[in-house]
Amino acid sequence: MVPTRAMTDIPLLPAEFAGLDLLATMVVVVSASGECLFANASFENVMRLSRRTVQKAHLPDWFEDPERLLETLAGVAANQYSSSRFDAVLRRGAWAHEEGLPVHVVVSQMDADGEGAPRVLVELIEIAQLARQDRDERNLDQVQATKELTRNLAHEIKNPLGGIRGAAQLLALELQGGQVGEGGAELTEYTEVIVHEVDRLQSLVDRLLAPHRRAQVVGDVNIHEICERVRSLVLIEHPRGLDILRDYDTSLPDFRGDREQLIQMVLNIVQNAAQVLSSRIAAGDAQIVLRTRVARQVTIGKQRWRLALELHVEDNGPGVPAEIRDRIFFPLVSGREGGSGLGLTLAQTIAQQHQGMIDCESEPGLTNFRITLPLP
Ligand SMILES: Nc1ncnc2c1ncn2[C@@H]1O[C@H](COP(=O)(O)OP(=O)(O)O)[C@@H](O)[C@H]1O
Ligand SMILES: [Mg+2]
Repeated sequence: MVPTRAMTDIPLLPAEFAGLDLLATMVVVVSASGECLFANASFENVMRLSRRTVQKAHLPDWFEDPERLLETLAGVAANQYSSSRFDAVLRRGAWAHEEGLPVHVVVSQMDADGEGAPRVLVELIEIAQLARQDRDERNLDQVQATKELTRNLAHEIKNPLGGIRGAAQLLALELQGGQVGEGGAELTEYTEVIVHEVDRLQSLVDRLLAPHRRAQVVGDVNIHEICERVRSLVLIEHPRGLDILRDYDTSLPDFRGDREQLIQMVLNIVQNAAQVLSSRIAAGDAQIVLRTRVARQVTIGKQRWRLALELHVEDNGPGVPAEIRDRIFFPLVSGREGGSGLGLTLAQTIAQQHQGMIDCESEPGLTNFRITLPLP
């Protein structure tokens, strides 16, 4: 038998690399020929690979153009240059059908290992990630500001509504008393319009204020139980033409949260998807996928979490209309006739109350709402 390095010879996380697991960028330590000696948590996350799989692998295999990397590795290992940068595209192993991931690659020399074999440090910076992080932070700030504005505005509107309604009712009584004479019936219609519109405004401001009203009821919750609830609720509404597929990572642990609110959050998102899928539902090929995954070392807002869960709600609908794409989480932004524009605002508020967040990527034929919630 050809002697191979036994798995037990390679500690899963060599102490000298422990710090690399804290980085948001992907980092891989390789031999001169590209054999993976260590890959950090970010790399495993993005590539959706386990640490053991990575350690048996050959980094260039994940590159669309492996030659470029191999040449650079050889050059750096042979000390022709101490570091080098280039752009490349990563292929995700188990996700071969997915589009490649554009990255900026930085290859640098490292100290040799104990036996003097050269080692090379490869940093992979997701090109889209830089732009996305910027955008997420801006979005969160904006959502916060809009939320406060909305809440204040809702209170300001709510206060005089009671007075307006009361006055209109008094007016209606006067009119019925007949003091006004001719045309009284017509005028009563006006007061009815006032009362009706006041009631509509009242329920709108109530909904605007709702998420902040109810105290949280915190208990142990299971994300898959929530998904199943939502799935059955939406399927009752759409018994035909809509498939809701599940792709669950059942290793996800329970976490503390408000079960009813979390159901509401997921329901709002899945219902939106079902709504935009209406023509596909009629055609019989509408599809929603509920996908759960573990994520490590995630940044939500300005906070960093070691572990989080991701719930992706994906649909094969037309995509979010371009005019509102940047604003869908803002209150009163709606792309559909009769929409309140509050569903996603409430969902985002609930996610934030659980220290999480929701973001969205959308193109025609594939829209993905990703809910990220930190795990203990
Ligand atoms: N899965 C989706 N695909 C396309 N557009 C969506 C999707 N989810 C939400 N949207 C868009 O975002 C808008 C805002 O959604 P929401 O806040 O729930 O308000 P509403 O459903 O009352 O319009 C929707 O009107 C729709 O235009
Ligand atoms: Mg909605």
